[in-house]
Amino acid sequence: MHICKKKCNFAAVFEKMDKPIVILAIESSCDDTSSAVIVDGVLRSNVIASQKVHEEYGGVVPELASRAHQQNILPVVDTALKRAGVSKDDLSAIAFTRGPGLLGSLLVGTSFAKGLALSLNIPIIDVNHLQGHVLAHFVEDGTGLPHPTFPFLCLLVSGGNSQIVLVRAYNDMEIIGQTIDDAAGEAFDKCAKVLGLPYPGGPWIDKLAKEGDAGKYLFAKPNIPNYDYSFSGHKTSFLYTLRDMLKAHDVTTIDELAERVPHLREDMCASLQATVVDILMRKLKKAAKDLGVSQVAVAGGVSANSALRQAFVDYGKKYHWEVFIPPFSFTTDNAAMVCQAGYFKYLDRDFCAIDEVPYAKTQI
Ligand code: KG4
Repeated sequence: MHICKKKCNFAAVFEKMDKPIVILAIESSCDDTSSAVIVDGVLRSNVIASQKVHEEYGGVVPELASRAHQQNILPVVDTALKRAGVSKDDLSAIAFTRGPGLLGSLLVGTSFAKGLALSLNIPIIDVNHLQGHVLAHFVEDGTGLPHPTFPFLCLLVSGGNSQIVLVRAYNDMEIIGQTIDDAAGEAFDKCAKVLGLPYPGGPWIDKLAKEGDAGKYLFAKPNIPNYDYSFSGHKTSFLYTLRDMLKAHDVTTIDELAERVPHLREDMCASLQATVVDILMRKLKKAAKDLGVSQVAVAGGVSANSALRQAFVDYGKKYHWEVFIPPFSFTTDNAAMVCQAGYFKYLDRDFCAIDEVPYAKTQI
């Protein structure tokens, strides 16, 4: 497990100890510019500006993402402070996503956090994006949702990751299984693209699957040891099914095929989704059983998927798990989760040196 343990002595921190702890967080790891504020452990604001510019390219264009972050960051941070009812002079520290993510995008958030913190003479706190997703389960947003207690298992599924994480403490996480090729979200997005659906395809798969027959098509399932995942064979199987159908109907495009095969997209989406959810849940069940852990959480963008959320409820009932499913607003990238991680680190005085740089890749 990686965690930055560099301590800095900021006189300002100790001067402010009698005041409320006010953490501002910035998330800019991919294509969402987000800022949040937590005051004494309670979330006061969580502002997200999603970048629409990538839609026409069918995926995130890194250079466009960094430019959009530059345009968005000031109004997003300003709105987060205003909604929280605090001024920049009230801030105790600034937390920021240091990685993993797109380097250009991370640089915008990191530089902004450093500049603002330097001008206010307050510490900065670096947050691992993946840990942030897991810690979204601890955000106090006023809805009274129960939080898991340690240790628990977290299925972390996003566009770039599919992992089973054993969470022993907020700063003690171990990846016990992960994908050896594509992530679950990536598989959804790529298959959606083949079906001619917009980017990101995950939410479209979810929507169309509701109208489809999950048993209509059978796709290959991986046979990978331990708690690891693989989605590339499953993706290829999806592609070959479509290729064979195009051939059988003597057509060349998906639109032509959809005219001949009723409910083509709906049934393909439903079958794909059911297979992905089954692959994810079977390994999670094995991990929970082997480790004797009965608190099980899900996090990351794919945790917005309705079939996966339902599977958590069903498995919870069947295997006597206490399940933790995040509110939709904390599933995809958001600064509330970064703020929560930053708040925990602030309590430990776990600050980051000003010369630390972002990282594109890392483990949790
Ligand atoms: O965590 P996230 O916002 O970004 C990172 O990858 O860090 O996750 C984005 C992923 C995309 O692959 C998107 O298609 C997927 O989450 N996603 C979904 C749903 N909503 C978002 N996948 C399936 N069903 C959904 N409802």
